[in-house]
Amino acid sequence: MINLSQQFVTNVDNVYLNHARLSPWPVCSRQVVETFVIQMQQPTAAVMLEWEQKQQQLRQQLAVLLNAATNTQVALLKNTSEALSIIATGIDWQPQDNIVLAVQEFPSNRLIWQALASQGVNCIWVDLALHADPEQALIAACNKNTRLLTVSAVQYHDGCKLDLLRLGAFCNTQTIAFCVDAAQQLGAYPIDVQSMQIDFLVACGHKWLCAAEGTGVLYVASKWLTRLKLHQYGWHMLKQADFTSLQVEIATTAQRFEAGSLNTLNELILASSLNMLLELGLQNISNAITERIDYLWQQLNSLGCEIITPATAKQRAGIISFKIPRINTAKLCQQLNQQGIICSQRGDYIRLSPHFYITETQLKTVLPKMKHCLLILDNYT
Ligand SMILES: Cc1ncc(COP(=O)(O)O)c(C=O)c1O
Repeated sequence: MINLSQQFVTNVDNVYLNHARLSPWPVCSRQVVETFVIQMQQPTAAVMLEWEQKQQQLRQQLAVLLNAATNTQVALLKNTSEALSIIATGIDWQPQDNIVLAVQEFPSNRLIWQALASQGVNCIWVDLALHADPEQALIAACNKNTRLLTVSAVQYHDGCKLDLLRLGAFCNTQTIAFCVDAAQQLGAYPIDVQSMQIDFLVACGHKWLCAAEGTGVLYVASKWLTRLKLHQYGWHMLKQADFTSLQVEIATTAQRFEAGSLNTLNELILASSLNMLLELGLQNISNAITERIDYLWQQLNSLGCEIITPATAKQRAGIISFKIPRINTAKLCQQLNQQGIICSQRGDYIRLSPHFYITETQLKTVLPKMKHCLLILDNYT
């Protein structure tokens, strides 16, 4: 198994399999936080300039990660939900327009679209669980009034990874805007906004990007940058830092979506994590995750678990979700966490989500620990 674990604390007592919820920070982020605290005790103009430069570098790193044409298409925000809200409230909707999305979407990629009902914009819902070909089901749901298709690149509950290339190509031929919530993919599996013809992409820093909560990313394709109506205003979005002029000239880059002061510490942490991920190479990272998912798959299969994550390799990413029908899922999840297998419950399933650095030795403890949990719960029920 590929070993890329140097930057993370790995012990066999706790196997952290919950990156789809929140990632531990790599060792490199410690230096960032310590330096920031020292700098904040006596901030100087030079230090503030250095932070701005690092934030600009971060936009560039994100542009590289996404294969965006330029870093001016990337805004640094609070979270995925904020980014989605900027898109949804920015489009010039017309009554009768509709949006196609899955019933399984994470609430952040659902609520804001539902909120457009007051403007006469409808949601067309697709139940992905009913279709062997989820992309085809989404495509078939679109009609002449569809203005936007929004998907999670990887579904948060069952880990189903969608074919963004196929969806993007379809949207492009139909002039439907294509919006991707990449919270469960960015930092784990490659994404290319250009070849996938993505109009809007949103993500957060605290999952597969191994950074802090409260860090969001918004990518906007050039043709949309100045087409989105603005609803948040502040000094940071001005083209020139001239605070006295009453002439309003707003940046034409994605900076126009960054209204006020940025979340500097979090962004420095994200920049250092991203540095590490880009150095390791996204392809190496995704290969390592795939290996770990395949391993867990075999282990869960050997225990007779019911796995809802698609069996086809190209439909899988860093999430594997399962249940054991005879056992109460909440109790099993609690037991697993107590035994040091850190995981989440989503619906009636337990979600495991290993990142690239989890070691083989750690993964080998999963099966005996699960057997131990089952013994306890079987005797209990
Ligand atoms: C698909 C998806 N989108 C977004 C988020 C997080 O949203 P936010 O960054 O607004 O907290 C999650 C978190 O679980 C998610 O799974």
